[in-house]
Amino acid sequence: MQSYTVQPARSVRGEIRVPGDKSISHRSIMFGSIANGVTKVSGFLRGEDALATLEAFRAMGVQIDDDGETVTIVGKGLHGLEEPTDVLDCGNSGTSMRLLTGLLAGQSFFSVLSGDKYLRARPMKRVVGPLSRMGARIGGRAGGEKAPLAIQGSQLKGIEYDSPVSSAQVKSAIMLAGLYAEGVTVVREPHLSRDHSERMLRAFGANVETFPGGVKVRGGAELTGRDIVVPGDISSAAFFMVAASIVPGAELLIKGVGVNPTRTGIIDILKGMGADLELLNERDETGEPVADIRVRHAQLKAMAISGEVVPRAIDEFPAICVAAALAEGTTVVSGAEELRVKETDRITAMADNLRRAGVTVVETPDGMEITGVPALKACAADSFGDHRIAMSMMVAGLVAQGETTISDVDCIATSFPGFRELLEGVVQR
Ligand code: S3P
Repeated sequence: MQSYTVQPARSVRGEIRVPGDKSISHRSIMFGSIANGVTKVSGFLRGEDALATLEAFRAMGVQIDDDGETVTIVGKGLHGLEEPTDVLDCGNSGTSMRLLTGLLAGQSFFSVLSGDKYLRARPMKRVVGPLSRMGARIGGRAGGEKAPLAIQGSQLKGIEYDSPVSSAQVKSAIMLAGLYAEGVTVVREPHLSRDHSERMLRAFGANVETFPGGVKVRGGAELTGRDIVVPGDISSAAFFMVAASIVPGAELLIKGVGVNPTRTGIIDILKGMGADLELLNERDETGEPVADIRVRHAQLKAMAISGEVVPRAIDEFPAICVAAALAEGTTVVSGAEELRVKETDRITAMADNLRRAGVTVVETPDGMEITGVPALKACAADSFGDHRIAMSMMVAGLVAQGETTISDVDCIATSFPGFRELLEGVVQR
């Protein structure tokens, strides 16, 4: 397990592109595999999570080629997947495991999903419960709460489901099962979570309708392969948005970032904190909004963060915590209990690390209170094996008074291969 030492930055300047969106990359492989015909994907994220999804579909007989530029998927149709002869390894990826659980529930074969020690500790009942109501036969540790999950494919029927959590993984798992179910499947959620499945499934020709508060899927419609351009991942861009906001004199242009409104909570929050952030060249690429984002340094102010913006910024909270640590005043995050069941408990992990850096942090069951300081202390930070904690503390290290060492940074490869090089490329010392 490699650690990494960050030196403080004098400034951060330049023009960059971040790798492809993780959520869209997963979905391109899944939907392309169960479509008829060929799907060509450009901008695919070659991070460990999305590659776990790709390997899972190869293990179910799908031909997927990658020439380094384009990923080409030869779709097998809704009922063309083959029974995998071994456990499907989802690695660290919750998206792979939860969406696959929904997709595999309606197949005519048996499959088993597992993953690394972090993923095997995460809650799966949130998908296993509603899928069981659809007629799925899924077993797992702790009564189906924990992976490995064993799925005996069966005939499903549509349900109406009011999800207690705003989770795109839950919504998408049920939608994917809905493609195979008899009749209509409806999912409602408290606040709208990312809607990439809705957009992409419709573009593939599925019978998907959205309405305020939810989505409706009619089973049985065949999908048709198509070309997909994956935009840059706003969740990856977030580390650079925060870096440029907190380092004096900084200016960054981040090109080609996905700005789907269900993902732009980070932009709304940073702007609410007084960030100097501008969207340029806004456009649409294969059904997803895209823009270039220019960020310049600004003194940030604390704010209250809660409600509908939380699911729209759910993966960005570790980076937001770093912004809050340098803001004037106390930032209060609430309604964000989902952070406790991410790759790690991100409330505890960030509270622990920021305290090491000299910040006063109060944990609450559903959030935290962070009182900003003018500069961070040099410290030894812990990634807790979580890619976004590692990258956030690397950004924090840019404004520390001395060296910041972050333990176990190998996990960054799950979502952002090349992060260190890209960051070091824009830092001036
Ligand atoms: C994702 C949904 C979110 C997010 C994850 C990716 C997706 O998880 O945190 O990184 O691709 O659907 P939840 O659905 O658990 O909120």
